[in-house]
Amino acid sequence: MELVIFSALEGLQARAETLRDLAVLAPSRLDQVHRLLSGERPPDALYLDDSRGVPLPDLWRSAAIAQQAGVRVLLNLYGPARAALNDAQSAGIPAVSLADADAVAAWVGAQLGLDATGGPRRLPVVAVGAAKGGIGKTFATCVLAEGLRRRGLRILVWDSDISNPGLVPAFRVPSSAPSYLHLIQRGPAHWNPTGIRPFIYAPDHTRGGSSGWGDIDFLIGSHSVARAENDVRLPDWQGFFEGVAAADGYDLVLIDTPPDYLRRPYATHVLQQGGTVILPAPPGARERMGVGHMLDHFREHAPDRLDHCLLLFMEPERGVTATVADVTGLFARRYPQVGTLGTLPRSPRLASMADEYDGYISMLDLGPHSPFTQATHQVTEALCARISLAPSLPMPRTSPWRRFVAGFQGDRPAAPAMA
Ligand SMILES: Nc1ncnc2c1ncn2[C@@H]1O[C@H](COP(=O)(O)OP(=O)(O)OP(=O)(O)O)[C@@H](O)[C@H]1O
Ligand SMILES: [Mg+2]
Repeated sequence: MELVIFSALEGLQARAETLRDLAVLAPSRLDQVHRLLSGERPPDALYLDDSRGVPLPDLWRSAAIAQQAGVRVLLNLYGPARAALNDAQSAGIPAVSLADADAVAAWVGAQLGLDATGGPRRLPVVAVGAAKGGIGKTFATCVLAEGLRRRGLRILVWDSDISNPGLVPAFRVPSSAPSYLHLIQRGPAHWNPTGIRPFIYAPDHTRGGSSGWGDIDFLIGSHSVARAENDVRLPDWQGFFEGVAAADGYDLVLIDTPPDYLRRPYATHVLQQGGTVILPAPPGARERMGVGHMLDHFREHAPDRLDHCLLLFMEPERGVTATVADVTGLFARRYPQVGTLGTLPRSPRLASMADEYDGYISMLDLGPHSPFTQATHQVTEALCARISLAPSLPMPRTSPWRRFVAGFQGDRPAAPAMA
């Protein structure tokens, strides 16, 4: 594959050359680019950015010439033309705002479907999304992170719901934990793995220890409700995403997303960028409508990626008349490409005991043999299989007898664990 790069970003050409099966041409003037585009054998793709100080209309013209010649256009507006990013995205051109050569090369590679031979690797990314609040996104994020670490996997959990950061109380994140919003304010040049590392919160209570379990680390934005001036613009979120997805030392990035999916289409971006989205799906009428809205949105904005959406059915609260069995068929008929991860049972008792515990404790440790924990392990196993993660530890065993007793007692914990 042939890529023309028009950029003065230092190190980008060298980085791009590490992409497998890619020949790179890097002319320094736009008229040379145009000559290549109108030649007999135009390149497969054109990467343009605003680092050479060329006026924006000239960049647009080059993009248009490339599109007319059937050449894919990739735009990176991180300098003087940054304000035009939304226009580019609305015109359907893949566009980002990235100042780091590693991150740009990783993005270009992902866009062109190429592997890096020695360059940065993009981690598998899973976003938990929904078009409705209170549906169980944060809850699912917590139990999946706990399920995955028990398989020896190292998880980076990114709380991207800064207006309602549910992971902070769930994991008892102290106010001393750093906030990545400060890093976002510092600008795109810092949104790379080295810049991000000091902003990762690695609590003692989620370290693997001698058990062989993986760790859970966090990127926390706000500790309560974020202030309006700290709001994150979508291009900044997308640029930051590239840095996070290139982080070292993790097997997976798990993102808890906010419910305002039109203003903050984070799950959509993850899907478009090759990641996976999990949609918690309780069967109630409003909840399934919320899931349907989200899937319709994906169908419009990432139609080829619906097979990377996975429904996680959630048993409803006591008293709700709709059942999971009622809705599985509905979703399968309406969205046949969408996959499923299984069903999480309700366990209000374990959830409440974990909430009331003096410090952080996982529901999986409060009821290690409960039907809830068993289901979590099965859902985790299904996720690993779907996204080709290779866990180093086998699925934890739950004892059938103790599971039966726990189920009979309403998920009473196996051993009293209250402080
Ligand atoms: N399987 C379950 N067993 C027990 N409680 C559950 C279960 N699933 C969800 N819950 C409870 O439902 C509530 C809402 O879930 P959660 O906060 O995860 O929703 P959310 O989608 O993240 O909401 P928001 O949009 O406000 O961030 C939580 O109190 C959680 O403990
Ligand atoms: Mg939440």
